[in-house]
Amino acid sequence: MNRRQFIVAIGAIPVSVKSLMAEHHVVSADPLMVDFDLGSLRGQYTSSEDFYVRNHAAIPASVDGASVRISGAVSRPLEITPERLANLKKRRVGAVLECAGNLVKPVAKVSDGIWEGWSLNEVLAIANPSNSAVYVNLFGRDGYGRGVAMEQARDGLLVTHLNGQPLSRHHGAPWRALFPGWYGMDSVKWLERIEVSSTILPTNAYAYFEMKQTASGKIERKPLPHMQVKSLILNPEDGKVLRRGDCEMSGIAWSGEGLIARVEVSTDGGVKWQPALLKHGGPFDWTFWHVRIQLSQSGAVQLTCKATDETGHTQPPERDSARLDGYVNNWRHKVGCVVL
Ligand code: MTE
Repeated sequence: MNRRQFIVAIGAIPVSVKSLMAEHHVVSADPLMVDFDLGSLRGQYTSSEDFYVRNHAAIPASVDGASVRISGAVSRPLEITPERLANLKKRRVGAVLECAGNLVKPVAKVSDGIWEGWSLNEVLAIANPSNSAVYVNLFGRDGYGRGVAMEQARDGLLVTHLNGQPLSRHHGAPWRALFPGWYGMDSVKWLERIEVSSTILPTNAYAYFEMKQTASGKIERKPLPHMQVKSLILNPEDGKVLRRGDCEMSGIAWSGEGLIARVEVSTDGGVKWQPALLKHGGPFDWTFWHVRIQLSQSGAVQLTCKATDETGHTQPPERDSARLDGYVNNWRHKVGCVVL
């Protein structure tokens, strides 16, 4: 979609034009899906205006100062507001949010931001979950919902601010959930209520599963794991003409399972690998990497990168061909350039 079509599309739906950049890559206008161009990244974090958007339905009407109701398998149901939580410590976490369906390319459904809010675990403790509490079900005002295991919920946040500003409508104002290290689908926006229960309550309409066909032809379904280790080459870009000699290669890498331990690059299709220098952010932020490579021959060259995280997990060369779903895409990024 070009800039003009973008403005027309955005004008047709009830969103504020000012809070999105026209240079964005709109994948769909309704429901709104906007990719972030990682090549435009300046500094550690994605600005709130540039942050990718992934909606399943129309953005709900805006509400001021809404509360979130916590009920279900708890002994003290409660309505939370920032005032009600004034005695709890506020948290500030830099964290990558990546959509589970994000592909391996630099215009993408992934961004890194500074999130501010309260620990979901501490808020739930006020409600006092009962022994039968196994799932925390989060419902948004657009009809979207997700149920997460209590274990995952303990690491979650109830967020009101992104990059020091109140959440915008696109990103879930006034309340959203955030699960650092997990794919974005659980981070429910426009949060209206939380219900603690012994089973998952939201319907399967928005189910996210890993689906595989086994050798015997059986279909296996598994919940998605933490965000898997991934890296991207941001420089040089695909299709660039390069000069022979020294060349700077750089990009980003992240994992929901721990810090990035290693990024390696290859200029020969993955036969020889050279380590890159790393610049880490916080534990849930992406890591920047850079390396000088030697381009000694003229002609086409394929540059590849692969990252490994501190758990030892690394990127697969290609997509697992047994996968039937479109999630957890973390194969190695490759760019093709021409050396003169
Ligand atoms: N929450 C609600 N209420 N509705 C949605 O459509 N999309 C989910 C999640 N939370 C969604 C939602 C998905 S799939 C992703 S990847 C993230 O929000 C995207 O968050 P963002 O649009 O703020 O980047």
